[in-house]
Amino acid sequence: MQKTIYWQPDTSAAVTPGRIILIDQTQLPGNLVPLEIRELQAVWTAIRTLQVRGAPAIGIAAAMGLVVAIQDCSGTTRDVQQVLNRAADYLATSRPTAVNLFWALARMKSLSQASGHLSPPDFKNLLASEAIRIRDEDAQMCRSIGRHGATLLSDGDTILTHCNAGSLATAEYGTALAPVYVAHEEGRSIRVFADETRPLLQGARLTAWELSQAGIEVVLICDNMAAHIMKTCNISAVFIGADRIAANGDTANKIGSYGLAVLAKAHNIPFYVLAPSSTFDLSLPDGDGIPIEERPSDEITTLKGNIVAPIGVRTRSPAFDVTPYQLITGIVCEQGILRPPFRQALKAATSMHVTTGQRLAVHAR
Ligand code: MRU
Repeated sequence: MQKTIYWQPDTSAAVTPGRIILIDQTQLPGNLVPLEIRELQAVWTAIRTLQVRGAPAIGIAAAMGLVVAIQDCSGTTRDVQQVLNRAADYLATSRPTAVNLFWALARMKSLSQASGHLSPPDFKNLLASEAIRIRDEDAQMCRSIGRHGATLLSDGDTILTHCNAGSLATAEYGTALAPVYVAHEEGRSIRVFADETRPLLQGARLTAWELSQAGIEVVLICDNMAAHIMKTCNISAVFIGADRIAANGDTANKIGSYGLAVLAKAHNIPFYVLAPSSTFDLSLPDGDGIPIEERPSDEITTLKGNIVAPIGVRTRSPAFDVTPYQLITGIVCEQGILRPPFRQALKAATSMHVTTGQRLAVHAR
């Protein structure tokens, strides 16, 4: 499996200076193009224009973006810290909904604050190592999500997913698709219906692409086919990712997820959210406080540069919606499968959170 994003040091002597290498997701499925970034503004643009996208991958890009911002800064460690703080404020304006962005920036800033005693080169290397750790931890969390989520699947099952919460949206492996990869590795056959996910077609361009690459059976459908498919195709479960999960379990994810949850309820199909704890935002009591990104209208009125709506027509383009917790069967995180009531389960999972690979079963089946 190709790495979605990683840090490439210039030499083997130290982790800085270096550059971010990421798969440019705007080029898929036509071209698998690695993008090299060593400037802060290019990181902002990559996040804003969805060259890198998906909540965990955005967080990793932001952490590495801070390293890019400070690595050429001459001056004292205090000067470098100030550059880092300004860069964090700037990157925080790139996209509003995925909390992983703010989580990663806060984690880097807090390490920066605690490390003012270091020399500038040591400080920069420490921060770069932390950004790499954020990437590596994400890969491990996704593997754990995959192992827990795979217990929900039986050989021959069919799931339905929305947007792309696969390998491309994370360090590796994905969240919603991770159980499918695990089941596939174990020799079980799982079929995936992928919504195309208008307006930017992450399902068609990315989910269909990465599952096909992995040799997993994928069936692409238009978003408005979901109800019919649920009624006629024996869907075992809906698996989606998340951009932010509030304390009561309300979950922001790609626009259309809420509608799927309503449809799943109507068809008695379990609806699971799969996300690492870096996507939890327990500071928000419920989903009402989750900022919803509004995207430019040309993302709706054009398709690959072709005009598909009357020029000047008014649009609304919320990029995310919030699925109420009552419609969610379970939340699969690196620590296990959380079951309602989510408020207690999320709190317990967060307090039990330990980094890197230590797996704790919370409400695990
Ligand atoms: O606008 P995008 O493509 O960044 O939206 C991505 C999603 O909604 C994903 O489902 C979510 O970030 C989870 S990715 C593991």
